[in-house]
Amino acid sequence: MSRIAYVNGRYLPFRDAKVHVEDRGYQFADGVYEVCEVRGGRLIDERRHIERLKRSLGEVRIRLPMSTTALGVILREVVARNRIGYGLVYLQISRGVARRDHAFPSPEVAPSVVVTARRLDLARNEALAAKGIAVISVPDNRWGRVDIKTVGLLPNALARQAAIDHGARDAWFVDNDGAVTEATSANAWIVTADGTLVTRRADHSILRGITRAVTFDAVKGQGFKVEERAFTLAEAFAAREAFITSATQIVLPVVRIDGRAVGDGKPGPIASRLRREFHRYAEVG
Ligand code: PDD
Repeated sequence: MSRIAYVNGRYLPFRDAKVHVEDRGYQFADGVYEVCEVRGGRLIDERRHIERLKRSLGEVRIRLPMSTTALGVILREVVARNRIGYGLVYLQISRGVARRDHAFPSPEVAPSVVVTARRLDLARNEALAAKGIAVISVPDNRWGRVDIKTVGLLPNALARQAAIDHGARDAWFVDNDGAVTEATSANAWIVTADGTLVTRRADHSILRGITRAVTFDAVKGQGFKVEERAFTLAEAFAAREAFITSATQIVLPVVRIDGRAVGDGKPGPIASRLRREFHRYAEVG
């Protein structure tokens, strides 16, 4: 079955799913995006993803060219047309197509809206979580507004590739103070020796992950202690457990950081429990 994408008002076979060469998303990374998990064909935490989308659009002054209800219909339609049971739906909105000029087009042009969806392999993801992943640390060289979910992800892509080149799966960005900000496409967490969960405060230095927010509810629901603060790489080396959270990975244990085992080098009980319990706290649309 051929994949179907939504592009500016039309549902198209993948080979015809194209945007113009002068799309500002392509030329300036002048666009924002969202990724939602799909489970049993249903969208997970759609409401919060759409809220964050609206915030991102507002921060970069792109207008949402349709109602959120219409957007919800399109997301569902793309999921249905691609017969996604378990997978993800991707939504990107750029400022639109205009002659290349750094300033915003004047008069304003219609934003470009693209939605794609794809299957993920549940068994493979569970196997990965059962094993845990290795990460490397890299200097955080991104811009100062990574709280906006823009498509400008070159530093993230370079860091992810550096991780792979070093035989790891992901990278953790570290700021000038030696504190971990986040992973290349996920938020970073540790569990300290006394069993407290720690993740960085959601300011401009990280993306305010939806999975991070739901994990907070799960952490509290499961009776664990949690602190929202910066933690250093040294603290992460000494942690009992570490993990990352994102829409596509949920709660994924980290078992090595820069080649050093975290705890006993196996996925920890707290991360594993949060992963199992996660969907009790998520919204199903
Ligand atoms: N990434 N931090 C960054 C830099 C991210 O790109 C993401 C998500 C997150 C976690 O956010 P959430 O829990 O809302 O998915 C944190 C998506 C999945 C991606 O780029 O594919």
